[in-house]
Order: sequence, then C-alpha cells, then structure tokens
Amino acid sequence: MDWSALNCSIAVLIILFLPLCASDDQLVSSNPLSPGTTIVSDGGDFAFGFFPSSGSTPSNLYLGIWYNGISELTVLWVANRETPVRNTTSSTPMLSLTNTSNLVLSDGDGSRVVWTTGVAAASIYNSSEAVLLKTGNLIIRSSNGTTVWQSFDHPTDTFLPGMKMRIRYRTRAGGRLVSWKGSGDPSPGSFSYGCDPATIIQMFLWNGSRPVYRTAPWTGYQVKNEYQYLMTNTSAIMIYLSVVNNDKETYAIFSVSDASWRTRLVLAYSGALQFQGWNNSSSAWVVFGQWPHHGCNRYGYCDETVLPVPTCKCLDGFEPTSTEEWNKGKFSKGCRQKEALRCGDGFLALPGMKPPDKFVFVGDTLLEECAAACRRNCSCVAYAYANLSSGMASGGLPRCLLWVGELVDTGKLHADPVSDTLYLRLAGLDAVA
Ligand SMILES: *[C@@H]1O[C@H](CO)[C@@H](O)[C@H](O)[C@H]1NC(C)=O
Ligand SMILES: *[C@@H]1O[C@H](CO)[C@@H](O)[C@H](O)[C@H]1NC(C)=O
Ligand SMILES: *[C@@H]1O[C@H](CO)[C@@H](O)[C@H](O)[C@H]1NC(C)=O
Ligand SMILES: *[C@@H]1O[C@H](CO)[C@@H](O)[C@H](O)[C@H]1NC(C)=O
Ligand SMILES: *[C@@H]1O[C@H](CO)[C@@H](O)[C@H](O)[C@H]1NC(C)=O
Ligand SMILES: *[C@@H]1O[C@H](CO)[C@@H](O)[C@H](O)[C@H]1NC(C)=O
Ligand SMILES: *[C@@H]1O[C@H](CO)[C@@H](O)[C@H](O)[C@H]1NC(C)=O
Ligand SMILES: *[C@@H]1O[C@H](CO)[C@@H](O)[C@H](O)[C@H]1NC(C)=O
Ligand SMILES: *[C@@H]1O[C@H](CO)[C@@H](O)[C@H](O)[C@H]1NC(C)=O
Ligand SMILES: *[C@@H]1O[C@H](CO)[C@@H](O)[C@H](O)[C@H]1NC(C)=O
Repeated sequence: MDWSALNCSIAVLIILFLPLCASDDQLVSSNPLSPGTTIVSDGGDFAFGFFPSSGSTPSNLYLGIWYNGISELTVLWVANRETPVRNTTSSTPMLSLTNTSNLVLSDGDGSRVVWTTGVAAASIYNSSEAVLLKTGNLIIRSSNGTTVWQSFDHPTDTFLPGMKMRIRYRTRAGGRLVSWKGSGDPSPGSFSYGCDPATIIQMFLWNGSRPVYRTAPWTGYQVKNEYQYLMTNTSAIMIYLSVVNNDKETYAIFSVSDASWRTRLVLAYSGALQFQGWNNSSSAWVVFGQWPHHGCNRYGYCDETVLPVPTCKCLDGFEPTSTEEWNKGKFSKGCRQKEALRCGDGFLALPGMKPPDKFVFVGDTLLEECAAACRRNCSCVAYAYANLSSGMASGGLPRCLLWVGELVDTGKLHADPVSDTLYLRLAGLDAVA
C-alpha cells in the first residue's frame, strides 16, 4: 500500500470539493456569501466573511474583514457591529450583491435586512462585483471599473496602511474610529478617535464625550516620522504619517518602512490607540507605540524628550502648586505663577512645544500681527503661529493661536515638524518693541 499516494489523492479530493468561491477575491450577484465561505484577497493577506462573537451565543455572527493566515483572529472591519445575525438550522444569514450595486446582509432567510452599503443607484447595473483588494479594502466596482463604495471609507476601530484618516472632508470633520466593547465583542465601545470638529486641526481620543488624549495641532507638515521602533541595535521600523491637504479635503495616511510587516493603527477596547505589528516568529502582535502615555495638568507640561518615561515639568515662570504632591509624582494640582503677570510683560519663545488646548483660532494673519494681537490684549498669556501652506491651491492658511485662559495639556515634543514655538508671556520679561 502506498500511503503517500493515498494521502495525495485525498488532498486532491479536498481541493476539488472546496467551494469555488472560497479561493476567490470576488462576490458577484449570482453567488451570495453565507457562513462558512470566505472571500480571500489576491495574495492571501485578508479574508472577508462571517465570524462569531466570543460571547455566550455562538449562533450570533458578524460580517467582517480579518487578517488571513495568522493564528489569532484579528478583525479589522465589521459591517453589522450593532446588529449580529443569527445562524441557526432554520435561518441562515446571507450577503448578496444586488442589481443596484449594493451589498445587503439579511437573516431570517432574507426577510430581515440587517445591514446594507446604501449606495444610491442612479440606474440598474447588472454586472457590478464586490472585490476584496490586496490592501484589505472591500470595494464595489461597477462594470465600467468605477468604485461606487469602499470599506476604507467606513472605518470601525482600525486604520490600515493606505487608508485615509479623514480630518476634513468638504468643510466637515471626518469620521471617527470607535473601539470594540470588549475583546470578542465588536459592538461599539465608549472610546473614539478622530478630528476635533471645533477646530479641524487636531485629533482627539474621547472616552464617551470626555477627551482623554489630544494630538498637537497640525503645523502644516506633509510627512512626519510618526514612530520609530528599534528591532535590533542596528535596524528599526519607521512609521511615516503623511498629511494631504487640498481644497476638497484634509487627510492623513500612514506607511511603514518595511511593508512585509502586517501593521495597523487600532483603537483597542481598553481605550489605548496603538500601532501594532504582527511578529511572525512569536505569533503575537507587537505594540510599536501607544497613546495616551501621560497627562500633565494646568501650566504643567509633559516632557516627551526625556526617555524612557516622559516627565511632568512646570512651564518657565511657574512652580508646582503643591511641591509635596509633585515630589510624590502627583501632578493633578498643576503649576502656579511665581509672579503675577503685568500687561507690559514680554514673551519667552519656547521651541519644540505641543501647544496647549483651548486656544482661540485667529485666521488670516501674519506672524507679526499674531504677536501684536496677543501683546495688546492683557488677558492673552501665550500665542503660537504656523502657516498651513501645504498643497492648498489658495496659497497658504495662516494659523494664529491665542490663549486667554489656563494652559492645559501642553508638552515638549521630540522635534519638528510636529512641534510649535510657544510664545509665553512671562512676568518681569521686557516687551520687545
Ligand atoms: C452556521 O450554522 C450551520 C447550521 O447550523 C452550521 O453548520 C455552521 O457551522 C454555522 N456557521 C458558523 C460560521 O457558525
Ligand atoms: C433587480 O432586482 C429586483 C429584486 O431582486 C428584481 O425585481 C428586478 O427585476 C431586477 N432588475 C433587473 C434589471 O435585473
Ligand atoms: C443588463 O443585462 C441585460 C440582460 O442581461 C442587458 O440587456 C442590459 O443591457 C444590461 N444592462 C446594463 C446597464 O449593463
Ligand atoms: C461608470 O458607471 C458609474 C455608475 O455605474 C457612473 O456613475 C460613472 O459616470 C461611469 N463612469 C464612466 C467613466 O463611464
Ligand atoms: C471611561 O469612562 C468611564 C465612564 O465615565 C469610566 O468608568 C472609565 O474608567 C473611563 N476609562 C478610561 C480608560 O478613562
Ligand atoms: C549590536 O549588538 C551586537 C550583539 O547583539 C553587537 O555585537 C554589536 O556590536 C552591536 N552594535 C552596536 C552598533 O551597538
Ligand atoms: C510574515 O509572514 C508572511 C507570510 O508568511 C510573509 O509574507 C512576511 O514577509 C513575513 N513578515 C516578516 C516581517 O517576516
Ligand atoms: C519576535 O518574536 C521573537 C520570538 O519570540 C523575538 O525573539 C523577537 O524579539 C520578536 N520581535 C519583535 C520586534 O518584537
Ligand atoms: C482678548 O482676547 C480674547 C480672545 O480673542 C477676547 O475674548 C477678549 O475680549 C480680549 N480682551 C480684550 C480686552 O480685548
Ligand atoms: C504661507 O506659505 C505660502 C507658501 O509658502 C505663501 O505663499 C504664503 O504667503 C504664506 N502665508 C503667510 C500668511 O505667511
């Protein structure tokens, strides 16, 4: 008996009997998707199909995209995160592509529509298809090749390389990442991350409606070295963040110096925003960087240039409100002025800063005008100026920020192009003419 030949013929049989759509990257209207079958992207990196929540009801299924070929089910995108479908012997959920180029998820044998892509169809297209691209983007493509819908426009809790993080879109603030509720529960959790709708120049991480982390206001840079992860003492992975700003929209995109790493920016259910990479040898996600790290309070700032643990410090001219608590590592009372400000006091330039929150945004002004606006207003305690010129057809958008209240959530950052020079009014400093 030749066992190896028998094994071989079993393998051939298995391959022959696998449903054809299981190895395909497309869904067409004649062939709906049901639990047990998946669509795999060309190259095999991503899969699209039904997955169970890890809760107590295994018949509750979600439709989503996950990394194919890694041992830990890691879902990147979920269609019906608020409404799981029921998979029972009497009722099988189904995803179909309609003749109006919409994906429709239904259960109860088609009687209940749970989710749809909602593409407004101008007419009936017979031959559109849904394709899972190599990038992990699920698109609906009409017969002439136009993309009428894409999952990259509807992020859940994850950004992938090449995906737009929309900051501004036709004058509106872009969308948000929303965390899962728990480790196996894709329903919306309390954390979200996205653009601050009030200013549209900074990003916030919220817990419900409460901000827990804020990025530095955008200075107009186009490419920034977002994170560097040392692999060995001689090699590193670099994550680059590019900002594209044109008259229609502003968005950020990230890329990785070594594309063979599966990388993602995910808002974890714990509330941490993390850059993660999949380590093939240990079969685990490695955290390259995470936020928030550290909070310093009023008139205090977090010095991120001190490694490995950023520390709280008081701004120049300020001292801890309670030295005793400060020395114990409690910074909640913040810092206080050593000497009261007078209207004629001058400004100290602090380079490399993350500007505080709660600023007044003054547009369309020059640096000198921005400085003068602060100088002549006795309640103005600081200002910062940048020219958001990149890619704007109209040739520049001046960004003058003034502070008239407390200085909260500021920091010292590693380097340009992220940081600003913060001009701080300081008691006893002569005003320059
Ligand atoms: C869906 O239900 C069918 C029949 O009950 C079962 O065979 C199948 O394994 C289920 N699929 C999933 C993904 O749970
Ligand atoms: C489109 O689908 C609807 C509902 O399934 C059907 O009634 C209609 O005849 C279809 N139209 C074309 C042009 O195939
Ligand atoms: C749709 O298919 C029908 C028959 O298959 C064909 O007559 C019609 O031209 C097609 N319509 C479009 C918009 O492609
Ligand atoms: C392609 O088809 C879409 C709808 O199917 C239509 O909106 C678009 O104008 C078409 N584009 C071209 C180049 O024909
Ligand atoms: C988020 O907010 C909830 C309710 O306000 C609170 O219980 C929880 O501790 C907060 N979590 C974090 C990480 O801030
Ligand atoms: C890097 O580490 C290796 C051993 O792990 C050592 O031989 C080498 O000298 C180190 N190189 C530098 C630049 O520190
Ligand atoms: C990890 O494994 C995948 C699949 O085998 C491979 O394509 C990729 O290059 C590997 N990545 C690294 C960083 O070794
Ligand atoms: C990946 O895993 C291997 C094996 O556990 C470990 O030696 C290596 O340091 C890990 N790489 C990173 C970048 O964490
Ligand atoms: C100072 O500036 C703030 C913010 O622009 C403004 O609300 C306030 O009225 C100004 N005060 C004076 C005295 O001009
Ligand atoms: C901003 O920069 C652009 C391009 O460098 C320049 O054309 C514009 O005059 C600048 N605007 C201001 C207010 O400095």
